[in-house]
Amino acid sequence: MQAVPDATTPASAGGGDAASHLAIEGVRLVYDTSRGPLVALDGLDLQVGRREFVSVLGPSGCGKSTLLKLVTGLLPPSAGRITLAGAAVRGPRPDVGIVFQQPTLLPWRNVLNNVLVPIRARGASVRAHRDKALELLKLVKLDAFARHYPHELSGGMQQRVGIARGLVHDPALLLMDEPFAALDAMTRETMMDELQQIWMSTPTSILFITHSIPEAVYLSDRVAVMGPRPGRIVETVAVDLPRPRGLETMADPRFIELTTHLRSLFREMPEAEA
Ligand SMILES: Nc1ncnc2c1ncn2[C@@H]1O[C@H](COP(=O)(O)OP(=O)(O)O)[C@@H](O)[C@H]1O
Ligand SMILES: [Mg+2]
Repeated sequence: MQAVPDATTPASAGGGDAASHLAIEGVRLVYDTSRGPLVALDGLDLQVGRREFVSVLGPSGCGKSTLLKLVTGLLPPSAGRITLAGAAVRGPRPDVGIVFQQPTLLPWRNVLNNVLVPIRARGASVRAHRDKALELLKLVKLDAFARHYPHELSGGMQQRVGIARGLVHDPALLLMDEPFAALDAMTRETMMDELQQIWMSTPTSILFITHSIPEAVYLSDRVAVMGPRPGRIVETVAVDLPRPRGLETMADPRFIELTTHLRSLFREMPEAEA
């Protein structure tokens, strides 16, 4: 397949770039299950540069959430190495923010206090971070809702609170696990646009997990494609579309070329088993 010769690099090229902020090298993860060991990831290499937006795109069950758990330090790899800003990831780190598929807001706390949850959890000063939280609420267009409670918000608004919460402690890396998957198609498009704006105005790197090809291409500097279990990166595609990207980007011939190429990669993959 020769669809995008300029932008694709074999996964094994690995970048190896000295500036790489997050480096995942030769990672393997084996789960102990009632039916014996299950190799979820094997030989996985991935780098994310400072301020880079990288998507991991893969079919359901290929190990995307597992990869994210390893990067958060919640789960140690069975083999291989993960480093962030030069230091090995050996447990949960204060410089990482996480946004899940479900916003998981605390129903008894208002929007502002939900954004401040990571600050409380770290025992840092809530008062010192209040202005930062309000600034982020402005960035996600929820400044008028700071005193509202989660049940008073739509799904998209709740997810925007989740994004503000993920950024409140100025993480060096923001991890996002299919954050828009539970939203309707219209809200999803708006959120893609907003996330791009948020990322362009904050100094964070983003590792974004998705199974949506257009979402990955629209948002990313690079798209890393994961193959079926045991998961590893089978190809990395650089997205050379100018920013800021907008709705018209999706009609750009280059956008169509890249999404078509990614679709053809998936068509060649065997179905991931459950
Ligand atoms: N805690 C666990 N124990 C055993 N197997 C697991 C566990 N979590 C995930 N798996 C298995 O590992 C594989 C990858 O899962 P996951 O990382 O959730 O994939 P994805 O996020 O890409 O859908 C799946 O086969 C899943 O059943
Ligand atoms: Mg998952």
